Amino acid sequence: MSTTMGILSVQDAARQRRSIRAYEQVPIPHEELEEILDVARLAPSAFNLQPWRFVVVETPELKERLAAAANGQRQVRSAPAVIVLYTDMADVLATVDETIHPEMDAAARARARQTVLGLFGSQAEAEREAWAAGQGHIALGYLLLAAEAHGYQTSPMAGFDPAAVKELLGLPASARIPALVAIGHGTEEGSPHHRHETGRLLRYA
Ligand SMILES: Cc1cc2nc3c(=O)[nH]c(=O)nc-3n(C[C@H](O)[C@H](O)[C@H](O)COP(=O)(O)O)c2cc1C
Repeated sequence: MSTTMGILSVQDAARQRRSIRAYEQVPIPHEELEEILDVARLAPSAFNLQPWRFVVVETPELKERLAAAANGQRQVRSAPAVIVLYTDMADVLATVDETIHPEMDAAARARARQTVLGLFGSQAEAEREAWAAGQGHIALGYLLLAAEAHGYQTSPMAGFDPAAVKELLGLPASARIPALVAIGHGTEEGSPHHRHETGRLLRYA
């Protein structure tokens, strides 16, 4: 997919990005949304299972109902689009062959399939869904950086009623929702970064 937008380096996007909760009322061209999601879907995942899925909510009616399910958060109403990032292990396990690398030979493919189905098949649903949601946060990070790099601002949200969002969008029972992401051209600055210094977080061993 060729880009029509300016691109920032990863470093510049990370430095510049902040949560934005007020947006211009201008729809995002689907081509540009898909360029951003095209980066998000390149995120790595354990066993390459790629459990993330995306629903882009755009209509005012649905955004209004989504806002109601998200504690009335103003960015849901304000943003031209809200990306619902969810994971679905039932879909992953039903289509595991799609995620096995095509360069593997038949025996290696069979082993990979057996490993995944054996591991996750023996887990309780809640356990594997929580595992998938953890993987989903990797795609969330990619998505936030990609949006910023492509000239869009975002607001990630975990403050919502997952059952209400699932019902609103007709998501499967197996869906977990790591985050909603409001996206658009921001009309506010957001707060300057307040982060630990690297030295506070790091030690060499
Ligand atoms: C997974 C996740 C969930 C979040 N949930 C909310 C939320 O529900 N509402 C909100 O206003 N901000 C939410 N935030 C935004 C954080 O408060 C914000 O990222 C943090 O304070 C750092 O600020 P910055 O994003 O402007 O750098 C969330 C952020 C993440 C990564």
